[in-house]
Amino acid sequence: MKKDITYLGKIIRVDSNVVEVEVSNEIPSAAPIINGRLYKIGQIGTFVKMPLGNINIYGVVSSVSNTPSRLEENKNSINYIGSRFLTVQLVGEKIGNDDFDKGVGTYPTINDEVHLVIESDLFDIYGTGDENSIKIGKHSSSENLTVFADVHKLVLRHCGIFGSTGSGKSNTTVSIIKAINLQFNGSRVVLVDPHGEYSSAFPDASIFKIKDAENPLHIPYWLMNFEELAYFLVGAKSTDYQKVEYRKLRELVTKLKKVNYQLASGNVDVNLITADSPIPFNVRELWGEMNWWLNATFSVSPKDQQTVATAHEVTPADYENLIGAIFTPYPVTNNGPYKTKHNDFYQYEKKLYSILKDTRFDFMFNPGNYKGTVGTKDLHDLLNEWIGSDSKLAILDLSEVPFEILDISVGLITRFIYDSMFWGRSDTYTGKNRPLLLAYEEAHTYLNKNDSISYAKKSVEQVFKEGRKFGLGALIISQRPSEISETILAQIGTFISLRLTNSKDQSIIKSSSPDNLNSLIDLLPSLRTGEAIIVGEAITIPSRVRIKLNNPRPTSDDPELVKAWNKDHQPNPENYKTVVKKIREQKN
Ligand SMILES: Nc1ncnc2c1ncn2[C@@H]1O[C@H](COP(=O)(O)OP(=O)(O)OP(=O)(O)O)[C@@H](O)[C@H]1O
Ligand SMILES: [Mg+2]
Repeated sequence: MKKDITYLGKIIRVDSNVVEVEVSNEIPSAAPIINGRLYKIGQIGTFVKMPLGNINIYGVVSSVSNTPSRLEENKNSINYIGSRFLTVQLVGEKIGNDDFDKGVGTYPTINDEVHLVIESDLFDIYGTGDENSIKIGKHSSSENLTVFADVHKLVLRHCGIFGSTGSGKSNTTVSIIKAINLQFNGSRVVLVDPHGEYSSAFPDASIFKIKDAENPLHIPYWLMNFEELAYFLVGAKSTDYQKVEYRKLRELVTKLKKVNYQLASGNVDVNLITADSPIPFNVRELWGEMNWWLNATFSVSPKDQQTVATAHEVTPADYENLIGAIFTPYPVTNNGPYKTKHNDFYQYEKKLYSILKDTRFDFMFNPGNYKGTVGTKDLHDLLNEWIGSDSKLAILDLSEVPFEILDISVGLITRFIYDSMFWGRSDTYTGKNRPLLLAYEEAHTYLNKNDSISYAKKSVEQVFKEGRKFGLGALIISQRPSEISETILAQIGTFISLRLTNSKDQSIIKSSSPDNLNSLIDLLPSLRTGEAIIVGEAITIPSRVRIKLNNPRPTSDDPELVKAWNKDHQPNPENYKTVVKKIREQKN
């Protein structure tokens, strides 16, 4: 019998990255105790080691059987009774005293020895961390073993946190952002928080929220390009481009933007302003103009109604308050004043009016002092608030954003930050010189692969495809990876997968994971809360990791159902009044 206490068996088959191991019958126990620790032989997901001179090759046990996988080929040479066979996927190697490396350069062969991996080997693999890494959790097999993630790869090669509801995604997100902010003084993270659950976990963050007295969230509508404006202001799609009113709207928006070339963040060449430029214009004036021409009466008959001078205006408009001008009514007889012929904007005007009257959209269409003009706030102020302050984390709380404009809100936030990183890519204070992480909670709601029109998806896909080059990384958090845009999934470098019960979601993780380690992924439905399988670029070796439970926590904790239901209920006719008020005002 082999003397080495860690000896496990020998290789009987090698097939590219998979080897088959026959466990030695001479091993005295299926659970040997080495240096006071109990090791279980043949546990799925555990590591084994194959020493080849000064090279140690490492693999993960992916299946266990009492017959070899190719029985026919081996039946004359081996007596199987009582034997055990392990299928092992090779994951990496360590040469001499060098660090562990992913991937295998030298392959083991038949009859090479296979050994158990004990804690000291794991320390060799996982290392002790350095200035490039953050602590991400503890290895599931050992409380003493810290798992580190390479922060450069985690952020700039993008990352995804997936798991069924209640599996611990929000807590994991807090752990990662905290670790980044703690370790790097100059780090900056923007967290898109559609349920408003993270502010409680980050007391020091800058938190922007609609209608908040101190830090209101404003997303000025004039960040939209023309296609977006047309869609959200008047419900027109880009396929309407041949319609007269669509063309006229473009002309009108361009005209109103060109007036505003003198801006708080610097003057802009008026010849470069188009309907797509993020230049402020007064959307109420746009409505006023539509409304005026629609309702005007003229002293001249329709064919001559070209100028304002011939109109019969009685009271001028107060378009800031959405009050139209009043005109002398036209009589039914045919002798003037005459009814307007300018009725192209008939539909658009009504839609625009109802959008501007809807106070739920005020954070966008009535964005406070964000007028852009000198003496008011402009986009540089918005960037300074979100990503320029000394706070390392900005939480954009979108919990009160009406669902119908959640998509465009996330789209505008993303494109604006992306543009600021792209155009500032070589500036000292941003771009490549000060990378940024954008995190998206509940990503499946606005990055859904089945949505044909999605402004958020378009912008976030661009971050995933191009962001790295300008210092912009992204993290998405979702309970339904199978619903996420495929372009985004394909660009995720590191997968942090918590318990996932849905088989469609599991197979997406399996097929999207950069490392071919299906055996670990197969463990997804049986993970404990707060336990994750991490695979990909940021981690030295695919691992099963326990994430620490944070304090303070996001407000996503399970309600204490039993305690709540045990309390006696006190009926009161006044009950539910405050709830109804909140529903009506959409305000907490
Ligand atoms: N690492 C952990 N250790 C122990 N308990 C945890 C851990 N992470 C989360 N929990 C507990 O699990 C519950 C759910 O956690 P969390 O809100 O992070 O889940 P989630 O995946 O974000 O859920 P959802 O999809 O509904 O947002 C919480 O009550 C929390 O206390
Ligand atoms: Mg959550």
